[in-house]
Amino acid sequence: MATLAVIAAAAAGAGAYAWQPSIDALPERPVPAVNQAQLAQGARIAAQGDCMVCHTSAHGKPYAGGLPLKTPFGTIYSTNITPDTATGIGSWSLAAFERAMRSGVSRDGHLLYPAFPYAHFTRG
Ligand code: HEC
Repeated sequence: MATLAVIAAAAAGAGAYAWQPSIDALPERPVPAVNQAQLAQGARIAAQGDCMVCHTSAHGKPYAGGLPLKTPFGTIYSTNITPDTATGIGSWSLAAFERAMRSGVSRDGHLLYPAFPYAHFTRG
């Protein structure tokens, strides 16, 4: 009985570690007016970070994900990071994006596998 209690406590602890609180999606449109300077800066950072190489599958739409990455634990597919609000990260707030980039936690709270090199983006 005591063993079961210890296992249950350990499982609950692991669950709490493996799942962080979700961050709300942004409210429905309208999308804020595009700031051209900010857009250019983002494009430059995306190019420097080489985000496209992982987030684009062979013959796929740029940044739409689906590239298979083989790991010792199985194949991980890169995600869609286009501004599409349904399939991409268009409804993510800055807080959600920053948490993913710096801490490797998706907007819904699940931990991202370090095939996504978030550990390289933790210093600002
Ligand atoms: C080495 C390959 C690689 C590079 C380079 C890379 N990513 Fe990723 N990224 C991934 C993988 C794989 C995942 C999915 C991880 C998972 O599902 O556990 C991911 C997940 C993400 C997520 C979380 C999306 C979600 O729906 O949870 C964001 C945001 C993201 N990447 C943004 C970026 C940005 C911005 C860059 C460039 C600065 C970048 N990534 C560079 C492989 C990469």
